[in-house]
Amino acid sequence: MAGPATVNKKRVAVLISGRGSNMTALIEAAKADNYPAAIVLVISNRPDAAGLAPARAEGVVTVVIDHRPFGDDRDAFERALDAELRRHHIDLVCLAGFMRLFTKNFVERWRGRMLNIHPALLPQFTGLHTHRRALAAGVKEHGATVHFVVPEMDAGPIVAQEAVPVLEGESEESLAARVLAVEHQLYPQALRLVAEGRVSASGEAAASR
Ligand code: GAR
Repeated sequence: MAGPATVNKKRVAVLISGRGSNMTALIEAAKADNYPAAIVLVISNRPDAAGLAPARAEGVVTVVIDHRPFGDDRDAFERALDAELRRHHIDLVCLAGFMRLFTKNFVERWRGRMLNIHPALLPQFTGLHTHRRALAAGVKEHGATVHFVVPEMDAGPIVAQEAVPVLEGESEESLAARVLAVEHQLYPQALRLVAEGRVSASGEAAASR
């Protein structure tokens, strides 16, 4: 039976396209009784996403909305996605390696209620191949960022950010692995802040309003 603590939890959908290791980190964190969010839905735009199996193994409802049959009709794809999110009474959406760009319309509909994790210290290194580009740029610090999603890619108010030192002789793989380990801590912390209403997209603490 759902006790009072369960009733108050925010209902979260995690959107994936691949491995789903951040999704798993969120599912693990959300098992704690005092965690303010429940991962109730995982949606993949790829039927072969590796993350679907661990989500199912954890008893989370999974849905595949393959983007390919929709072709260039991004609105139709997003209508299907939105319908699924509403059907499951989703409060918050977490993008976790979800590799599709949204239209402004969809982002506005979920504005302030949709988070993304990006493997760089935004605003540095938006886009792809962030670890390779960080090494090429010779930065001393790299890291990960959780932010609210806005229409511009890899932008939007930052909820949490953590730096990782770039070591001597670092390879792209070793840097990626250390950043990923940080991501797995950072995303659950950031979702907690948002689900508890301690951080909002306007940047004001909700409690002080
Ligand atoms: C993560 O490193 C995430 O930050 C990145 O994709 C990886 C997904 O891994 N996201 C982006 O690059 C988005 N721009 P996961 O599927 O194991 O969580």
